[in-house]
This record gives sequence, structure tokens and C-alpha cells, in this order.
Amino acid sequence: MKNALVVYASRYGHTRRYAQWIAGQLGCPALEARQLRPQQLAACEVLVYGGGLYAGGLNGAKKVLTAPHPLEGKELVVFTCGLADPADEATRQHIRAELTKALPEALGRAHLFFLRGGMDYSRLGPVHRLMMAMMRRMLLKKPEAERGGQDRGILETYGKTVDFVDMETARPLVELVREL
Ligand SMILES: Cc1cc2nc3c(=O)[nH]c(=O)nc-3n(C[C@H](O)[C@H](O)[C@H](O)COP(=O)(O)O)c2cc1C
Repeated sequence: MKNALVVYASRYGHTRRYAQWIAGQLGCPALEARQLRPQQLAACEVLVYGGGLYAGGLNGAKKVLTAPHPLEGKELVVFTCGLADPADEATRQHIRAELTKALPEALGRAHLFFLRGGMDYSRLGPVHRLMMAMMRRMLLKKPEAERGGQDRGILETYGKTVDFVDMETARPLVELVREL
């Protein structure tokens, strides 16, 4: 197996739990994106990047995956952690399309995995709480037939505490990295 490094950005801990479990399985470090130093990145052959989904974007990804770091020649494995159920093919396609639009170069060559996180409304900061309330209001105006998986994920869990983190769903990622 090549020399791997797991880097993650997590606001409420869901992505961190996956990142730490993946790193434990691979026997490599898991580092927070904001603490990452260029030398640490330079030393790895496989970069596993994980981030929470926020309004369709991947938390912290721009800084790590598009900065002028020496990413050339490295295998890239990216995982998303969101509320929408990634068992739904249309949801996966939608997330992939949005991320590829935002990060065409990195996503064009990355192995992409979709994991499910959770939400605890009692822990949301005021900005996120307001964003969720606005998103809900907007989604309720959308005809039901036009709502996608991400829309349904947000509406069905609104105001609740849900935790869909399941390490078994990250096992295929670990297996892929072992084979690279
Ligand atoms: C403001 C806000 C926007 C969100 N947008 C999305 C989204 O577009 N798609 C999605 O699947 N989940 C979305 N979520 C849910 C988060 O992705 C989910 O809570 C995830 O587990 C967060 O991971 P973290 O705790 O590691 O940051 C959103 C959550 C918040 C608070």
C-alpha cells in the first residue's frame, strides 16, 4: 500500500469520525485541513480528503485541493459527508456534478465516495440555524415532484437530531486505498 494521509474539515464532528476511522484502518494520520502543513502533504502518495457538505459545497476542499500544493502524481480519494441519503443514485450524481463544477481539476481525477453524516439542530450556530430555516422555507415552496435527495434529506430531518454515521459504508474507500 502507498503512503496515505487523511485530511478532513468537519464542523460538527461527523466527517471527523469517518476520517479518524479511515486513518485507523489504514494506519496513517488524520489531520484537520486547517492544521495541514505543505510538508505533510508533500510526503504522502495518496491523499484522502473528506469534508461535510454545506449548501452543495465540500467544506475546506478548495483550500486543500486547489491551492498550489504539489498534488501532481498523487492519488486523490475524496469523500463527502452530508445529510442526503447517498444510497440514491440521483443524489450521488447531483453531488458529483456540483463538486466537479466547483473543483473540476481535482474531482476530474479523484475517486469519489459519498458518506452520510447527521445533524443536531441544538448544536447549530446562529448562521447555520438561519440558513437551514431559509432553506426549508424555500424547499417547501418547491413542488414535491421537483425535490431532489438533498432537498428531501433536509426537509425530513428538519429540527431533529439524526446520526447516520456508519463506518461500514466507508469500508470500500479503505479497500480502494489499500489496493492503490
Ligand atoms: C447550513 C448547512 C447546510 C447544509 N447543506 C447540506 C447540503 O447541501 N447537502 C447535504 O447533504 N447536507 C447538508 N448539510 C448537512 C451536513 O452536511 C451534515 O450535517 C454533515 O454531517 C456535516 O458534517 P460535519 O459535522 O463533519 O461538518 C448542511 C448542514 C448545514 C448546517
